[in-house]
Amino acid sequence: MLLADSMALNCFWVTLFLFFGFLGVVFCEQDGFLSLSCGGARAYVDSSNITWVSDDTYINTGNITTINYVEDSGTYSSNVPLRFFPESQRRNCYKLPVENTSSMVLVRAQFLYKNYDRHWKPPAFLVSLGTAITSTVNLTNKDPWIEEFIWPVSKATLSFCLNAIPSSGSPVISSLEVRPLPRGAYRSGIGGFSNKSLRKRYRINSGYTNGSLRYPADPFDRIWDADRSYTPAHLSPAFHIPLGLNLSSLKESPPLDVLQTARVLARDDFLHYNLPLDTFGDYYIVLYFADILPVSASFDILINGVVQQSNFTITTSETSTLYFTQKRITSLDIAFRRIRFYPQISAFEVYEIVDIPPEASSTTVSALQVIEQSTGFDLGWQDDPCLPTPWNHIECEGSTVTSLDLSDTNLRSISPTFGDLLDLKILDLHNTSLSGAIENLDSLQYLEKLNLSFNQLTSFGSDLDSLVNLKILDLHNNSLQGIVPASLGELENLHLLNLENNKLQGTLPPSLNRESLEVRTLGNLCLSFSTMACNEATSNETPKVTVITNRKHTPHTRLAIILGAAGGAVFALLLISRSVFLYINKRETEAADTTSAPIDMRNWNAARIFSYKEIKAATNNFKEVIGRGGFGSVYLGKLSDGKLVAVKVRSDRTQLGADSFINEVHLLSKIRHQNLVCLEGFCYESKKQILVYEYLPGGSLADYLHGPNSQKFSLSWVRRLKIAVDAAKGLDYLHNGSDPRIIHRDVKCSNILLDAQMNAKVCDFGLSKQVTQSDATHVTTAVKGTAGYLDPEYYSTKQLTEKSDVYSFGVVLLELICGREPLNHSGSPDSFNLVLWAKPYLQASAFEIVDDSLKGTFEAESMRRAALVAVKSVDRDASLRPTIAEVLAELKDAYSIQLSYLASLGHSGEA
Ligand SMILES: *[C@@H]1O[C@H](CO)[C@@H](O)[C@H](O)[C@H]1NC(C)=O
Ligand SMILES: *[C@@H]1O[C@H](CO)[C@@H](O)[C@H](O)[C@H]1NC(C)=O
Ligand SMILES: *[C@@H]1O[C@H](CO)[C@@H](O)[C@H](O)[C@H]1NC(C)=O
Ligand SMILES: *[C@@H]1O[C@H](CO)[C@@H](O)[C@H](O)[C@H]1NC(C)=O
Ligand SMILES: *[C@@H]1O[C@H](CO)[C@@H](O)[C@H](O)[C@H]1NC(C)=O
Ligand SMILES: *[C@@H]1O[C@H](CO)[C@@H](O)[C@H](O)[C@H]1NC(C)=O
Ligand SMILES: *[C@@H]1O[C@H](CO)[C@@H](O)[C@H](O)[C@H]1NC(C)=O
Ligand SMILES: *[C@@H]1O[C@H](CO)[C@@H](O)[C@H](O)[C@H]1NC(C)=O
Repeated sequence: MLLADSMALNCFWVTLFLFFGFLGVVFCEQDGFLSLSCGGARAYVDSSNITWVSDDTYINTGNITTINYVEDSGTYSSNVPLRFFPESQRRNCYKLPVENTSSMVLVRAQFLYKNYDRHWKPPAFLVSLGTAITSTVNLTNKDPWIEEFIWPVSKATLSFCLNAIPSSGSPVISSLEVRPLPRGAYRSGIGGFSNKSLRKRYRINSGYTNGSLRYPADPFDRIWDADRSYTPAHLSPAFHIPLGLNLSSLKESPPLDVLQTARVLARDDFLHYNLPLDTFGDYYIVLYFADILPVSASFDILINGVVQQSNFTITTSETSTLYFTQKRITSLDIAFRRIRFYPQISAFEVYEIVDIPPEASSTTVSALQVIEQSTGFDLGWQDDPCLPTPWNHIECEGSTVTSLDLSDTNLRSISPTFGDLLDLKILDLHNTSLSGAIENLDSLQYLEKLNLSFNQLTSFGSDLDSLVNLKILDLHNNSLQGIVPASLGELENLHLLNLENNKLQGTLPPSLNRESLEVRTLGNLCLSFSTMACNEATSNETPKVTVITNRKHTPHTRLAIILGAAGGAVFALLLISRSVFLYINKRETEAADTTSAPIDMRNWNAARIFSYKEIKAATNNFKEVIGRGGFGSVYLGKLSDGKLVAVKVRSDRTQLGADSFINEVHLLSKIRHQNLVCLEGFCYESKKQILVYEYLPGGSLADYLHGPNSQKFSLSWVRRLKIAVDAAKGLDYLHNGSDPRIIHRDVKCSNILLDAQMNAKVCDFGLSKQVTQSDATHVTTAVKGTAGYLDPEYYSTKQLTEKSDVYSFGVVLLELICGREPLNHSGSPDSFNLVLWAKPYLQASAFEIVDDSLKGTFEAESMRRAALVAVKSVDRDASLRPTIAEVLAELKDAYSIQLSYLASLGHSGEA
C-alpha cells in the first residue's frame, strides 16, 4: 500500500469537499498512524478519534508503572501509564514499522517523569533514531518533554532508542507516535537529505492565538502551535481562502486552517520572530505564505540580520514556501521589512538538522549475527553494532567494528565468518573452548592484538603469517604441539608472543630473537632459541627399558609408589623411576613371577635416559673438564647427533640414595624455562649418577665479571640489565611458575650461564629444595650456599624462604653494578663486604661506586631503579625484601629506560 499516496488521495477529497462547501467534519483516514501508549494496557480512541494501542509488541525491555498528576493547565490526569528502563540497561529500543521504505515519517515522543518513583530525581538520557543520537532529554528542565523528528525512512523498521546516561537516572517514556508525511516534503533546499534528519524546534501557526491545531485539521497530525509570545505586531483576522487559491505548489501541505491566518505588519517597521534555540547547530527553516489579503504584498526577509530575500512578492491567488538553512547558530531572528504593502507570514517551521551517520556494513552485521549464535549466548545484539552506542563486547571507530571481545563464551571454533570482520584491530577469544587449528583469520589485515589464550588449540594453522600488523599474539594455555613456525618471525610489528603452557618443543626460529620482541615460553616441553638445547632425542642408542609388572607386593613396587606419590609423578615417570631402579637392581629383578615388555623411552620428551656407554663416548672418556663443584666434576660432551652437552658426574662421596636421585631427575626434567638451563637427560648405571645438561658456550657471568680473562668491558650496562632480567625470569619461574615451587639456595654469578647470544640462564638448582606443600612458607634445612651471597637471616634462623634467593640475587645485582666480587680482601676493611660497602652509596644514588667501565654510559634513572631494587633485595629483614617478581618488574623498567636512552643517542640496543 502506498501510504502517502493514499493519504494524498484522501486529502484531495478533503479539498474537494471544502471546494464544494461541504463544511461538515471530514477526516482523513488514519492510515499509517501508529500511536503507542507506553506501558498502557489497553487500546483506546482519544477525543481526536486517534486510536492508541499498547507499546508492548514493539519493545521487550523496561518496566511499567502508572501515575496521577496535575497538568500545567490544571487538568487532573489519573492512571497515566509510563514505561521506564532501569539504568543498567544501556540501550532500549522500540522497533517501529514504517511501510514505504522511501517516504518521510514524523516521529513524536512524549517523556514524562512527574516523580512517579517518588525519588524527586528527574532523569536525563539520550534519544536516538537509527544510528543518530538525535537529542538529550533532561526532565529536570521540562516535564513533560516532547521531541519530534522528521526521518527519511530507508528500512522497513526504524529503531527509536532511549539510551541511559550513566548516573543520570532511568529513561522514561509515556507516548510514541509515527505519522507518514507528504511525499517530497521537507527536502527542498537541503542537500544530501538521505542522511539527514530534522528535529523540530518550532512550528507556528502565525496570526492564530486560540490554541494549537493538529489532527484532524492537519491530516498528517503535525502540531501547529499558537502564535503567542513573539514581538508585537498586527494579526490578520481569519480570512476565508479565496476560491482561486492554488495550493498545489506546497509540498509540505500545510492545512488550510493554518494558511487562513497571518501575522501582518501594517506600519513602516520590522516584524520579528526572536526564537531561542537550545542547541548550537545547523537549522532548517520553512516559511509559508498565502495571498489572503486583498493586496499583493512585497517585502524583504531577513534571517539573523542578513537579507535573504529582497522584495519578496506574494502573487495574487498563490501560496508559496521559502526554505533556508542556517549553519552554526545558537539563536534565530526571522524578520520581515516593509518595502511596499503588508509584510506578512502564514506559518513557519524551524528544525535542527541532525546528521545520520552511516550504518555498519551489512557483511559485518550478518557476520556478527552468525557469531552471536555460535557463542551460545544471547548477547543482546540488535540494530547497528556501532551506533548510536556500540554493542556489548564490541568497540568501533565511526561505523566500523574494530574490536571484538567474546572471551568466556562458548565458541568451539574460529568460523569463517570471523574473516568477514575486516576492520578488526583487536580480537579477544580467550577462554572460549576453541580447539583444532588457528584458522579463518588471514583476511584480518588490520589485526594488532589477537588473544586466543586458555583454549584447546592444537596447531598454528597457516593464517598467522598474513597478519602483518599484529603486535600482540597471546596463545598461552593452549595445547599447541610441535615446533613454532618460522613464518611468525616475519611479523615485523610483533612485540609480544606468549606461548606459555603449551606442548611446544624444539628451537625457536632465530628471526623471533630480537630486541623488540618478547617471547614467553614457560611451561612447554622444551622450547628455546638455543640450537644446542632440547633437540628431539632420536638416537638409536636409546636404551630399551624393561618394564616389569609385579603381581606381588615387593619392596620394589613400594618404592616406585612412594616415589610417584612424593613427586606427584606422572605415569611416565613412574615407569622411569621403576625402570631406573630396575637398572640398579638388575640381577635381583630377574625374578620368576614377573612379566616384562619393552618400552621405547624416546617418546618421553622431558628427559632422555643415557647408557653409561653413551656418556663415555660423548665425553671422549671424560676428557675435558669444564667445571668442578661440591658434587663432582662437569665434562664437555658431544652427543651422537653433534649436540654439545655439559655432563655432570656426581662424585661417589656426593651420591644420593636411589630415591633422592630419581626425585631430583624427576624434578629437574619437569622444569622447562628459557632462562633455566635445560636438563637433557640422565644416566644411572654402574653406580654412577650422571646428569646431562644443555651446554652454554658463553660460560658463566662470574667468568665475565671476575674471571682471569675477565671481559667486563664487553658487558655494557644494557647487557648487564638484560642478563639480570633473564636471570630474574628464571628465578621467578622457580618461585612462582613451577610446581612444586623451588628455592634455588645457591644463586650466584657462577650459576648464571650465558649462551652464544648472551641470553642468561640459571643453572645448578640440583642443590634446590622444593617447597613441597603449597602452603609451606619456609623449609628448615642445613645451611647451604656460598659465602658472600648467603642470606644473613637464613644463616641465623635456618628458615629458608624464597626471600633467601632474593638476597643472593641482590648480591648478584650489586656485582653487576659495581663490577666487583661480594667479598674482596684487598682494599680498606670497610669495603671488604660488597653489601655493607655499596648499600649507603646506592641508597643515596651516589653512583661513584659504579663499575668504572660503565661510567658515562648509563641513564641515571635506569641505574637508580636497578640500584634501589638491589639495595632492597639485600635488606637484612627478609620481610622487607621485594619478591623476585617485583625485582623482575623493576629490572624490566630499568632495562627499557636504558634502551630508550640508547635509542635517543642513536645507539643500537647492543651498544
Ligand atoms: C473515527 O475514525 C474512524 C476510522 O478510523 C471512522 O470510521 C469514524 O467514523 C471516525 N469517527 C468520528 C466520530 O469521526
Ligand atoms: C523491573 O522489572 C524487573 C523484572 O520484571 C524487576 O526485577 C525489577 O525489580 C523492576 N525494577 C523496578 C525499579 O521496579
Ligand atoms: C515506496 O514509494 C516509492 C515511490 O513512490 C515506490 O517506488 C516504492 O515501490 C514504494 N515502496 C514500497 C515498499 O511500497
Ligand atoms: C539536567 O539539567 C539539570 C538542571 O539544568 C542539570 O543540573 C543536569 O546536569 C542536567 N543533566 C544532564 C545529564 O545534562
Ligand atoms: C551524507 O551523504 C552525502 C552524499 O549523499 C555524503 O557526501 C556525506 O558524507 C554523508 N554524510 C554523512 C555524515 O554520512
Ligand atoms: C477558541 O477556541 C474555542 C474552542 O477550541 C472556541 O470555543 C472559541 O470560540 C475560540 N475563540 C476564538 C476567539 O476563536
Ligand atoms: C498551480 O501552481 C502550479 C505550479 O506552482 C501550476 O503548475 C498550476 O498550473 C497552478 N494551477 C492553477 C489552477 O493556477
Ligand atoms: C519590488 O518588486 C515589484 C514587483 O516585482 C516591483 O514592482 C517593485 O518595483 C520592486 N520594488 C523594489 C524597491 O525593488
